[in-house]
This record gives sequence, C-alpha cells and structure tokens, in this order.
Amino acid sequence: MLDQSFVARSLEEIRFWSRIMKEHSLFLKLGFRCDDTQLINEANHFYAIFEAIENKSNAFNIGTDPSVIKRFNEEVHIAVSYIWAFKRKVLGLILRCQLPGANNFPLLVDHVSREANYFRNRLSELNAGRLEPLPDAIIDENVFFLRIMADHAKFISHLLDPSERQLVEQANNFSQEFDTLLYQARDLESMRPESQTLPLLDQFLDQNKVSVKSLRDFKKTARDMIEACRIKSIIHPLLADHVFREAEHFLVIIDMFENSLTGNSA
Ligand SMILES: [Fe+2]
Ligand SMILES: [Fe+2]
Repeated sequence: MLDQSFVARSLEEIRFWSRIMKEHSLFLKLGFRCDDTQLINEANHFYAIFEAIENKSNAFNIGTDPSVIKRFNEEVHIAVSYIWAFKRKVLGLILRCQLPGANNFPLLVDHVSREANYFRNRLSELNAGRLEPLPDAIIDENVFFLRIMADHAKFISHLLDPSERQLVEQANNFSQEFDTLLYQARDLESMRPESQTLPLLDQFLDQNKVSVKSLRDFKKTARDMIEACRIKSIIHPLLADHVFREAEHFLVIIDMFENSLTGNSA
C-alpha cells in the first residue's frame, strides 16, 4: 500500500541523491581533458537532468498523491540508469588507457557508479513496497557505506598536496580504519543469519558510529580549511562538502537502525 511515508521516504532519497548525482556530473567534467568535448557535453547533460529532478522533488511535498510520486520514482530510475551507464563507460575508457592525462581516478569513477546503483536500488525497493528485513538491511547498508567511507579517505589522501604530510597521514589512517571495519562487516555478513543477534548488531552499529563520527569531523575540518584556502590540495571545495554530506547521511541511517533495533527489543 502506498501512503504518506512512501511519499516522504521517496522525496528524502531523491532530494539527497539527485544533488549527489548532479555533483558527480560536475566532478567528472572537471576531470576530463579540455579536448574531450563529447564527454564534457554528456556530463553537462546529466548535470541539467539531475538539477531538473532536484527542482521537481522540491516542488512536491508530503501531500502529493502517492501515485504521482510512484511515476516520478520510475522517471528518476531511468535517469539514474543512464548516468550509471555513462560512469561505467568512462571507467572502461580510463582502464583501457584511452583518456591519458585525464584526472578522474578509476576508483572514483567506480565509486560514483556504485552510488548510482545504490540510488537505483532504493527507488526500485520503494516502488515495489518491499523493504529488506531489518537485520539484513543493517548489514547490507553498512557493508555498502563503510566501503564508500574507506574510498573517501583514499581520495582525500591522494588529492591533498603531498606536502600536507600530516593531513595525508590522517587520511591514510582513516583509510586503514574503514578497511578494517569493512572486513568486520563482511565477516558478520558471511556469518548470517547466526550473526544477526540483537547484541551483535547493536555493538556493530555502535562501533561503526564512533568511527563515522570522527571521519565526518575530519571531513568537516578539511572542507572548512579548503574553503578558506588554508591547505594545499586539488580538492574542489564542493567535493569536500559532498563527501562530508555522505558521511552525515550514513550517520542518519545508523541512527535510524539503532532506533529500530531498540524499538524491536522493547
Ligand atoms: Fe558521491
Ligand atoms: Fe561518495
């Protein structure tokens, strides 16, 4: 059954992720060589598409007819499929060494395609009205987002100027910390369903939350320093803000899981 919570959740997801998709288009564009006009045009095209989706999502509200939102979700799903394919095409070009001198890391392009795939799956789940059982969602979402966080630490480390030795070291430490958390999450994943006990899942969330908070704070500091031009890097200020927002989003998801777990146990 489609109801108000379906509308609210759909709009939340679309407002968050369409802005993210729009920004990915900008970052990809900035990494292309100035002669790659076809790729630049494609990136601009996606920027305009996701900007329009973002505006449309802001024009809807909680009172919008659920059937209108269902069609909107389908429309957005198609756009996300196209940007996913574009990102994979760019990844293929880079890995075949057909864009020598371009400035997008392969892992970054893979990373943004994984985010598109995640967004696309969220839209399918919402429209199908089937959500994963809580214990599965807790493990799957953490496996996804811990890898995203580990990647961010690696991008920050590699895009800081090498002379920013202390910040590079801090970013590398976060990379290691999140790789370890990701391995732990995958261990819990392979031990399921036996691993899906309340105390283990609760501890898992607690532990991840502590690390995500400290990474979030590091990103916030880096963002503020980049905006104030206090550190040497080739990080676009909007990219610094983008990865900060993604950490905030992960924290909101962790909080939501913690509340659901506690609610279930009461
Ligand atoms: Fe992103
Ligand atoms: Fe990301």
